[in-house]
Amino acid sequence: MSSRYIICVVGARPNFMKMAPILRALSIKLPHIQVLLVHTGQHYDKDMSDRLFDDLKLPRPDINLEVGSATHAVQTADVMRKFEPILDTYQPCCVIVVGDVNSTLACTLVAVKKDVPVVHVEAGLRSYDKKMPEEINRILTDQIADRLYTTERSAEINLKKEGIPSDQICFVGNVMIDSLIYGQKGAPQVLDILKSAGIDPSVLSGLKDYAVVTLHRPSNVDQPDSLQHLLDILIEISNRLPLIFALHPRTKNNIERFKLTYIFDVKNIVFLPPQGYLEMLGLMSSASLILTDSGGLQEESTALGIPCLTLRENTERPITVEQGTNTIVGSDRNLILSCLDEILAGRGKSGRVPEFWDGAAAERIADDLKAWLVL
Ligand code: UD1
Repeated sequence: MSSRYIICVVGARPNFMKMAPILRALSIKLPHIQVLLVHTGQHYDKDMSDRLFDDLKLPRPDINLEVGSATHAVQTADVMRKFEPILDTYQPCCVIVVGDVNSTLACTLVAVKKDVPVVHVEAGLRSYDKKMPEEINRILTDQIADRLYTTERSAEINLKKEGIPSDQICFVGNVMIDSLIYGQKGAPQVLDILKSAGIDPSVLSGLKDYAVVTLHRPSNVDQPDSLQHLLDILIEISNRLPLIFALHPRTKNNIERFKLTYIFDVKNIVFLPPQGYLEMLGLMSSASLILTDSGGLQEESTALGIPCLTLRENTERPITVEQGTNTIVGSDRNLILSCLDEILAGRGKSGRVPEFWDGAAAERIADDLKAWLVL
């Protein structure tokens, strides 16, 4: 193998916590290889990007493609156009992509057409819902990538059903949980998080019990009726359990655009801007419940043993339901409120931590890569 470069790609918030442990493991296990971090710039706000680099001790990107927000077609095309010359310059021995965002697929497409091997971390997850842009990104990336690292056993079954040969697939566990274990000690207390956001914690009845909320999926927040329906359920929940709602920019914009800003005046709901990684860990660790449509939070709540209600019709991470603390509730008000009853009565799911969600997934990836690429 002549090239001495590996290119690691990140683009959007959920990529950063997956890539941080991989970079650490590569620097230890493959010290003779130069690892370049390319940030596509899909997420660019301080809150959505820079702050997470600090929390995760991710080195600054070597290259930032600065693509920013746009339609799916324009964003994907911009990443492709700007990534191609990087491959020409460095001719890496492989490109590592993580997760399922537009940047993941865009860089994979460019690399495979240039005959550069692509490694996909978090392969094989399937919601079987093609209305999710991430599902399209996952299916296409897995079809053309060369080495596929999986987080749970069901992913391998999905990949084989799609005709991927078993010798391309390697079960390594969950790099998100590597980051969680690495970051846990540095997570701040809830009171301090609220104080530094300028919020008086007494608004949340002393904060003994509370739920953390995040919402950002287009299917939940891009239509006024669906968004209003979910916000109204949150108001009902907040009468029984105070809520801390970390607002994604997409959701904030839509609340304003659809004139649903009455939610900001509800007494028992505290709104925070997108949180840093450590703040989010701090908020989740002492919560009684997590209400979310995020993929990452479903896994993190399972690792932390906190009940999670997923406000979606499906999950690509079934192990969080089968073994973990997750329940899929969609937007069904009655189901959500009856699950809430159980949780408040101390009968929420406690679950167990899945196989290989042990803090060493990135090391397994680096070991496998060393052998696979003969480095
Ligand atoms: C993207 C990913 C999604 C992931 C999510 C995490 C895709 C298809 N979607 O969705 O899988 O769960 O990131 O956050 O790749 N915006 C800002 N500042 C930013 C970034 C975005 O204000 O730094 C706003 C813009 O108005 C933008 C909107 O958020 O149009 C959506 O951003 P985009 O990256 O297109 O998708 P996400 O919803 O963040």
